[in-house]
Amino acid sequence: LLLLLLLLELWLIRGALVSASLDCVLAEQGCAQDASCMGQYRLLEYCAAEEAVSPLGSDARLECLEAQHALQYYRPLQVCKCQRGSRREEHCLKVYWTVRFAGYDISPYEELKINLVRNIEMSQMASIMSASSLSVDGQNQCLKAAQDCGLYEKCGSLRSEYVVACTKRAGQSDSSCNRQKCHKALRRFLERVPEEYSFALLFCPCSDTLCGERRRKTIVPSCSYEETVRGEERVGKPNCLSLHTYCTKDELCRSRFADFQQNCQPSSQSPSGCVRESRAMCLKAYAGLIGTIMTPNYVSNSSTEVSQWCTCEGSGNEWQACQRILTLFSSNICLRNSMGVSAVPPPPPSEENTAAPAPLPSEHVHPERLHISHNTVPESNSVSALCHPQVCSCSHCAGR
Ligand SMILES: *[C@@H]1O[C@H](CO)[C@@H](O)[C@H](O)[C@H]1NC(C)=O
Repeated sequence: LLLLLLLLELWLIRGALVSASLDCVLAEQGCAQDASCMGQYRLLEYCAAEEAVSPLGSDARLECLEAQHALQYYRPLQVCKCQRGSRREEHCLKVYWTVRFAGYDISPYEELKINLVRNIEMSQMASIMSASSLSVDGQNQCLKAAQDCGLYEKCGSLRSEYVVACTKRAGQSDSSCNRQKCHKALRRFLERVPEEYSFALLFCPCSDTLCGERRRKTIVPSCSYEETVRGEERVGKPNCLSLHTYCTKDELCRSRFADFQQNCQPSSQSPSGCVRESRAMCLKAYAGLIGTIMTPNYVSNSSTEVSQWCTCEGSGNEWQACQRILTLFSSNICLRNSMGVSAVPPPPPSEENTAAPAPLPSEHVHPERLHISHNTVPESNSVSALCHPQVCSCSHCAGR
């Protein structure tokens, strides 16, 4: 009952959180009432459709830019936003990007009222953290998160739905899965299940590789982003720039990526490491990418390091542009800190830990970032090498 009340409360607050901005579908309907607005809008639709096929010629482009300029006087279309996971999201995003035919990608999603978000995220994070500190010694937090999800019907059933969608063979002779269906099911899960459950699954803290492997496999990598094995040859990772170009051609992926760039923008000045100072918003934006062409994930079983399934090798003179995309995931202080909040439980107030600190190579090295050989089964030695009072409450850490 307490949990239900908490969920209800979060739901109510969430409703009040979103600044009341105009939905782009409504803005489009308003535009349709005005012949000149609609004329320019239809022209821009045509521009966007043409551009998607091949780059426009300079005359055509000029005409399109003029139409875009003319529409700037129709404010509703300029200020409208979309809601992630809403029924009309796709249509809404189409309107949003049509009006922004050329220009910098700004997130189409509604802003959350930032101060309220901060208060809520503190309590949400606190509850995730207290849940993990209640754990018994050595409990696999990712396993626990999965069990908790199973106990809540909505989470359990949407999770099985995506697991089925992501593991089912596409055809009888085909060994690969249907990635589109898998992505759709993953997005449904993340959009409908409260973050108390989904974030606990995505960002569960781990102190050993068994837990880390479960965490890495949460989103079924073999289907959601890894290239499948065709015959005997492994299909390599795509180039990150190509992946990004491909993403921008898809309105949903383009939107989620713009949202991620905006909400996980790193800053060396702010305490959170984020320009926007909100860890919850960065995690939300990160989770929003799961189920798109640019699905990110953990790179190994033994660290919280994440990346895209792509490479910058052979990018030639585009190497820097390629690296910019890759490092948004692989070395982004904002993302790293945001994930750290829920991934690392507070130090347990246990005597063993205060009495005998773990031998660490360096105080600044996060134990989860220590790489251990992929080929070794986690024996007690390698496991204890990963132990640290900050992350570990397991029994074999005692006294180390
Ligand atoms: C994770 O562990 C499993 C089982 O030991 C292994 O097969 C897999 O290659 C590992 N993956 C990574 C990315 O380390």
